[in-house]
Amino acid sequence: MNGEATLRDGTPVAADRTYKTCTVQDLLSLEGNTTVITGGGRGIGLALAFAVAQAGSNVAVIDALLEPHEDFAELKNFGIKAKYYKVDVTEHAQIIGVFRAIADEFSGIDGCITAAGIVLDKPFLEHGWDETMKVQMVNQMGTFFCAQEAAKHMKSRGKGSIIMISSIAATMAIPAQTMPAYGASKAFVKSLSVHLGVELGPFNIRVNSISPGYIRTDMTAKVGLQSPRLLELFTDAPPMKKMGERTDLMGAAVYLLSEASAYTTASDMMITGGLHAGRFD
Ligand SMILES: NC(=O)c1ccc[n+]([C@@H]2O[C@H](COP(=O)([O-])OP(=O)(O)OC[C@H]3O[C@@H](n4cnc5c(N)ncnc54)[C@H](O)[C@@H]3O)[C@@H](O)[C@H]2O)c1
Repeated sequence: MNGEATLRDGTPVAADRTYKTCTVQDLLSLEGNTTVITGGGRGIGLALAFAVAQAGSNVAVIDALLEPHEDFAELKNFGIKAKYYKVDVTEHAQIIGVFRAIADEFSGIDGCITAAGIVLDKPFLEHGWDETMKVQMVNQMGTFFCAQEAAKHMKSRGKGSIIMISSIAATMAIPAQTMPAYGASKAFVKSLSVHLGVELGPFNIRVNSISPGYIRTDMTAKVGLQSPRLLELFTDAPPMKKMGERTDLMGAAVYLLSEASAYTTASDMMITGGLHAGRFD
């Protein structure tokens, strides 16, 4: 047989050698992108806003807070455009409106991180209807419909990447910390990213989740105040014997948004100091 074997689109089957010229820095660059971050007014979402801004992306933050944390103002120092939108992700009309406004003001949406979330830490038998419903509304419905709006805008441009912030609580529970509604809502998020990764793959929209372990934020500080025993657990249980920092999530977010992960979808990245694989004590 003569000639060269080709793929359906005419690309030669023979392995390409662009690895010699393309740089890891180029693959990880988000230069010229626009990334929407829900729950980016503080906490993990705000740290991820700094990560994507450093990588060159404009940032549109959606959060229910009246004002974002004071550090938000420093995002502009990276030479990108950053704008804050006060929106409640449990309000469908607000979600549709804000994604439309962002797509107009930033000329499109390339990436989206859904980090808005709330926790409910109490025994199963004490969970009330309204507070449990609130967790599902923010963590599940908010994530679902923000991702839906992001995907609509990405589909019209033929590409995009969505990262959903799940949690180690999606896959494991520890007796000292009772949060069945929260854990189940994060399992929803993790499963959603698998389903969307498969459904949106043909549109070149990638969907992945990040499952952090115990990360130092205001959320964990509050839990620690209520229970010193829990705070001890946060540092003792992970095999790496420490809590995670928000900086531990920054590289993963940039990787999953960028071309460096162009063939990665429907996957979950567990950033837990090893806790998902085994508990130290
Ligand atoms: N901190 C951790 O250890 C940890 C671990 C695993 C997963 N997570 C997840 O990471 C995400 C961020 O957590 P964090 O620790 O930074 O908490 P955080 O409370 O500091 O940040 C959550 C943000 O979501 C916003 N938010 C809440 N309800 C909203 C609503 N209805 N509409 C819009 N915004 C809303 C809050 O205003 C806040 O800015 C959450 O989804 C959380 O479940 C956190």
